[in-house]
This record gives sequence, C-alpha cells and structure tokens, in this order.
Amino acid sequence: MSSSASRPAPRPARKAVIPVAGMGTRFLPATKAVPKELLPVVDRPALEYIVEEAARAGLPEVLMVTGRGKAAIEDYFDRNPELETALEKKGDAGRLAAVHASTNLAQVHFVRQGEAKGLGHAVLQAAAFVGNEPFAVLLGDDIIDARDHLLEHMLAVQAEHGGCVIALLDVGMENIDKYGAVAVEPGAHPAVDGDEVVTVTGLVEKPPADEAPSSLAIIGRYVLAPEIFEVLRETAPGRGGEIQLTDALATLVARGEPVHGVIFSGRRYDTGDRLDYLKAVIQLASERDDLGPPLRAWLQEFVAGLPAEGASPS
Ligand code: G1P
Repeated sequence: MSSSASRPAPRPARKAVIPVAGMGTRFLPATKAVPKELLPVVDRPALEYIVEEAARAGLPEVLMVTGRGKAAIEDYFDRNPELETALEKKGDAGRLAAVHASTNLAQVHFVRQGEAKGLGHAVLQAAAFVGNEPFAVLLGDDIIDARDHLLEHMLAVQAEHGGCVIALLDVGMENIDKYGAVAVEPGAHPAVDGDEVVTVTGLVEKPPADEAPSSLAIIGRYVLAPEIFEVLRETAPGRGGEIQLTDALATLVARGEPVHGVIFSGRRYDTGDRLDYLKAVIQLASERDDLGPPLRAWLQEFVAGLPAEGASPS
C-alpha cells in the first residue's frame, strides 16, 4: 500500500445551510406576508436559485434555518398533490415539470431559529444537522450565475487545504460598510479557474470605510469547518447587537486556524436591495432563451426614449 493510500481521505462537505429567517425589511410592504426569499427573480423564487446552486455543487442535503412567517418556504419545497393533479388533467406538462423541479432539487430540512440573534446564531442552529463535517453556508441575497462555479472552487480549496473558505469580491471602499471586510495576504495556493485563492489575516463586520482593512467583502458563500460551532457558542454579540459569523471567523484567524479566501471573478447578481433586485431581474431575464429576445428589443427602444439624466420626463 502506498503512503498516500494510508492517509485518511479528506472528508468533503456534503451539506448546505441556508439561513432564511431574515425579516426582509428592505422589501416592505411586499414582505409583510411573503418571505423575501420567495420574491420572484424572473419566474422563480430567489431561493430556488440558491438551492439549485448547492445541488449543482454536489451538496444534496440542505438545511434551511427559518423563523416566524416563513411557512410558505416549507410549502414551496414540498409536493403539492392538488396542483399537480390539476396540471396533469390539463395536460400542462411544462408547468408540471417546473413544479416537480422545485421539490426534486435537494433533500430540504428545516430548523427554526427562535430568536433573530444574527447570522452567527442562525448558523449555530445547524450544529446537530451538520455534525463533525465541513459544510457550506449560502446566503440568499447573492445569486451566482449558473455558468460560474464559485462554490465548487471553494469546496475544492476546503477539501485540499482544510480550514474555512470564504467568497470575496472587491466592492470598492464606498460600499464596504455593508459587508464583512477582510485583510488578506497572497495565498500559497494556486488560483482555481481564474478565482484567486488568498489567505485571510483579519475580518471586521461592516466597518466604516476609514476603518476597513481593504475593499474586499465577504459575499454570501462560506465553506466552514465544524470547529466554527464551538467558537460561535462563545461569540458575544457584535455589530448591531447580533452574533456575527464574521467575528467567529476572526477568532479562528486569531487562533492561527486557516481561513482561505476565494476572490470571485464571475457573474453575481445581488438581490439584496430594491435597485439591485431590479437590475438582477432584468439581467437574468434578458439572457433567457424564451424572454430574452423580446425583452432586449423592448429595452433598447425604452432606453432610447428615456430623457437625458436630469431632464424631467415629458
Ligand atoms: C451578511 C454578513 C456579512 C456579509 C454579507 C454578504 O450580512 O454578516 O459579513 O458580507 O452577509 O451578503 P447581511 O447582508 O446579512 O447583513
């Protein structure tokens, strides 16, 4: 037996955690009765893109950390026999397939957060589900283009080098106060398919620009080692009085545990606020085979007819 065969094989992550307990304040009043995760991006809930991404990356077990007012999410990922029978009777095979697709994407589990005490607290609710394995966390505000492979790259870095891996993007100093900001050093590891791999040396949650270590922000993808749970249990409330995942990662860095960053070079659609959401819907719809051609033609006409910026519309 060769020496490499006797080494324990690294255990790759198989589970994904998706926190969905947020109140969706930025989309009120739409989110008064509909979870923000179910708002349609073109014709599918934002959350379906996220579950699809996890499934594509080979994570068939998904845990949603949910809360009050989010029961519609459970319904969405469950079967709906009455609807299916009605579509069958009508012979509407296309819509029936779309309805089935949402239930067949992954094995979806739910746990409730109880109290909204922050992202770190939400992730902590996944401890029993995850056990002693690395796992991914996907936040719903960012949709990653299906042609790019950010999560796969992060999973590969974790499987090869261990520790935790976070996705990074340069958002500019003018935006850094909305994100977890990081300090990095060039990594010892090669880039994966254009995505640079760096070593994270410090993290701060939503710092004012003049206190930010760089303009590199954490975007909503993480591959975490299970050690994060014991750190989260000891993490005091931070920014906004909430238990922050960023602070727990900062503790791991301070202890000398490896935290890698993958700087994403692909296409990301932010659905976190109203303007970005509108842009995401237009971008994604204009690339679709069915809606794209008529939408693009209309957009060109519409834009040509817009008054110059600053002029008042007639
Ligand atoms: C969370 C994290 C933050 C990260 C962001 C990415 O903040 O706390 O570090 O940069 O997600 O979307 P939230 O947007 O939930 O306030």
